[in-house]
Amino acid sequence: MLQALPAAHPLVSGATSESPLITAYRGGKPSRRPVWFMRQAGRSLPEYREVRRGISMLDSCLKPELAAEITLQPVRRHDVDAGIFFSDIVIPLKLAGVGVDIVPGVGPVLEHPVRTADDVAKLPKLDWDALEPIREAVRLTVEQLGSTPLIGFAGAPFTLAAYMVEGRPSRDHLGPRTMMHADPDTWKALAQWAADASGLFLRAQLEAGASAAQLFDSWAGSLGLADYERFVAPASARALDPVRGLGAPLIHFGTGTSEILGAMHGVGVDVIGVDYRLPLGEANRRLGGTVPLQGNIDPALLSAPWEVLESHVREVIAAGESAPGHVLNLGHGVPPETDPEVLTRLVSLIHSIGY
Ligand code: CP3
Repeated sequence: MLQALPAAHPLVSGATSESPLITAYRGGKPSRRPVWFMRQAGRSLPEYREVRRGISMLDSCLKPELAAEITLQPVRRHDVDAGIFFSDIVIPLKLAGVGVDIVPGVGPVLEHPVRTADDVAKLPKLDWDALEPIREAVRLTVEQLGSTPLIGFAGAPFTLAAYMVEGRPSRDHLGPRTMMHADPDTWKALAQWAADASGLFLRAQLEAGASAAQLFDSWAGSLGLADYERFVAPASARALDPVRGLGAPLIHFGTGTSEILGAMHGVGVDVIGVDYRLPLGEANRRLGGTVPLQGNIDPALLSAPWEVLESHVREVIAAGESAPGHVLNLGHGVPPETDPEVLTRLVSLIHSIGY
């Protein structure tokens, strides 16, 4: 494995290293306020629905030209400051040979839930070569993005394991939370398997040209601090090990994580993504005033009257001023029913607000 990014990588060649996004992630004040949206690629865009017609979600992630096109759609349309690679947190499972599908309107569903020591022992190892369609899609995307950085991502071990143990989406994630206490050795083996799969997925995206990487622990908010620290944080740190020290900013995000923000930072990341529940000033205080933040426009307000949304966004910007760096985003993903014109207008508003 390379110890450094290749010379042609956009962070090394200089194509993205001074971009507003990377500058803010490094704690600086860029020329314009950077903004991107989680789930900016997706069902809110008619051009996405058009190219996805007749192709399943996971198949579309594994066709490099299609994945690149979908990644670029929101960048072209909204003038956001980053592309987020079009893929899914369960792609490493699929490429390892685990039976998994994304059922429309439901989410990830596994053929065989992973519940016993034997189930975990039988999980196939993800192979570097199997990630070639991902590297190819990233290369194609980065070529077309030019000076706009691409953000790579992966699911954190707890969020992935939440799908693997339950076999499908669940509300309280009881399965993995029971397993960590009832059978800690099996939990540890599963969390490490997920960490290694996500770590390799991240590494592939960064080597192929992504300029930053976000670890999504979307469901970590169902854990108390003690369980998070004991059973989850070491595995999340392990997922990031393959992409440390490369110079690419690492971002950590989850929902309902107000009480575990410090521990999420403690796994070794540069930036914390904050959900819509906690004002950024308070998040900054909890993190000791030293961590650049990303967030946290409430997605519910995307469907409110423009004046309501605008005043909320101005509050978010004012609260973000306290942090050493701030990248605007939503407090969770774009809801599919969002009017894309609202997102375009929002980007332009954010770019128009000076310091
Ligand atoms: O623009 C982007 O954010 C890019 C790509 C992206 C997708 N999934 C594409 C996708 C990213 C970063 C993800 C991450 C992901 N996937 C997470 C973490 C982020 C989060 O939302 O909390 C999670 C938990 C998943 C698992 C998953 N995949 C769910 C819960 C769903 C929704 C199921 C549904 O139909 O509502 C998916 C499917 C999925 N992943 C879609 C997209 C665009 C929708 C599929 C479609 O268009 O039919």
